[in-house]
Amino acid sequence: MPPNNILIRDVPDGLRSWLDEEKHRRRLSLKEFVLQLLDEASKSGIEGRAPSLFNVIEAPRPTIVSLMPFRFIDLFAGIGGFRIGLTKVGGQCVFTSEWDANSQKTYQAWYGDHEIHGDINAVKMKDIPEHDVLAAGFPCQPFSIAGVSKKNSLGQAHGFKCERQGNLFFKICDIARAKRPPVLFLENVKNLKSHDGGKTWLVIQAELEKLRYKIFSRVIDAAHWVPQHRERIIIVCFDREVFGDSPPFEFPEPPPGHPTLATILDLDTDPKYTLTDHLWKYLQEYARRHREKGNGFGFGLVGPDDIARTLSARYYKDGSEILIRQNGRNPRRLTPREAARLMGYGEKNARTFGHQNGFPIVVSDTQAYRQFGNSVVPDIVEAVGRQIVEVFRWHINRTGTGCLVKGRPSTPVARGAA
Ligand SMILES: C[S@@+](CC[C@H](N)C(=O)[O-])C[C@H]1O[C@@H](n2cnc3c(N)ncnc32)[C@H](O)[C@@H]1O
Repeated sequence: MPPNNILIRDVPDGLRSWLDEEKHRRRLSLKEFVLQLLDEASKSGIEGRAPSLFNVIEAPRPTIVSLMPFRFIDLFAGIGGFRIGLTKVGGQCVFTSEWDANSQKTYQAWYGDHEIHGDINAVKMKDIPEHDVLAAGFPCQPFSIAGVSKKNSLGQAHGFKCERQGNLFFKICDIARAKRPPVLFLENVKNLKSHDGGKTWLVIQAELEKLRYKIFSRVIDAAHWVPQHRERIIIVCFDREVFGDSPPFEFPEPPPGHPTLATILDLDTDPKYTLTDHLWKYLQEYARRHREKGNGFGFGLVGPDDIARTLSARYYKDGSEILIRQNGRNPRRLTPREAARLMGYGEKNARTFGHQNGFPIVVSDTQAYRQFGNSVVPDIVEAVGRQIVEVFRWHINRTGTGCLVKGRPSTPVARGAA
């Protein structure tokens, strides 16, 4: 064997091409590169770690080997829809912020590998590590139709004027200004674009443009991935200083067809999810009154061949937006496990994180419905994330520069240094 060679066999294609790309990028022979990897691994003492382009990897439990590792932060993390989707395309979560104690409990039980920071307003900039993708499904209540009409009826401010939650978009801008992540990946309700006659969206665009990000946005209906109509705006921004003015980003083509509820419903469910005669009567009466007034409100009765309406964070109240037809009995609510699947937190994604029987539900039913109804569908994050990774790949090929997307120096950036 020539001295500069090494025999590598039985390596999956994906890993093989990663090795080829990396050795080329580091301008090493395959042997030199593999020996270097082994040397690094033996010194760091961390086993089973995904190969990484980065110098400092702090989290102990990355799960996915990818062709293009990158680091992300999970803001307003909820139960980690971004966490799942971005991990599946090679991301490593290096920071999480979520202030709700119950969501923290779920997040910890599902991923549990690092501290969850609370109120993002209380986090010091120096405690947010360097990252390539800032992911944030920032609170949507100030902008959602239901949230706005509730706030109006209570005489409360909404949108950016909502003091408690409306300013959180600006917090994202502060972090982007300080940390300059190459990519911002944001999610919110569809109504964000039309809120306040379009002014809210104009402000958002202007702020992101001011920060020199190129903005892509699209309303995506989750119904291509899960049996639920759930239209959300996805906003992906690329730092113009890194990617130039025309990064070749394209939103993913949705997979063909629509799954139906048959894919997420259990055949045998606890009778406690069946509506009482009293509640069922009340809901029918309520719907009848609204129909007479010409309003569309009312329950949504569905079966295995259907696609559900949007699951809301208020589902625990009476379940009326998605009721499952039952033969010879009153309809029933979704169980929390079915709600999990309806949002894409199914058994397959759970296995990715080492949970063999689905993501454990460690909170009350009420909290579980609230958490799922607030969440982002991980499969959409994954699909969009894949497209972001394509742009990373394009950038690295184009520039031939160092390992970090942003071409940061190879000296490790110590945690906490800002
Ligand atoms: C729309 S949900 C995002 C859900 C998340 N994308 C997921 O996949 O579950 C917004 C989240 O932001 C959290 N939140 C609101 N204000 C916050 C703050 N100041 N600091 C940290 N988290 C906050 C809420 O508790 C809620 O879980």
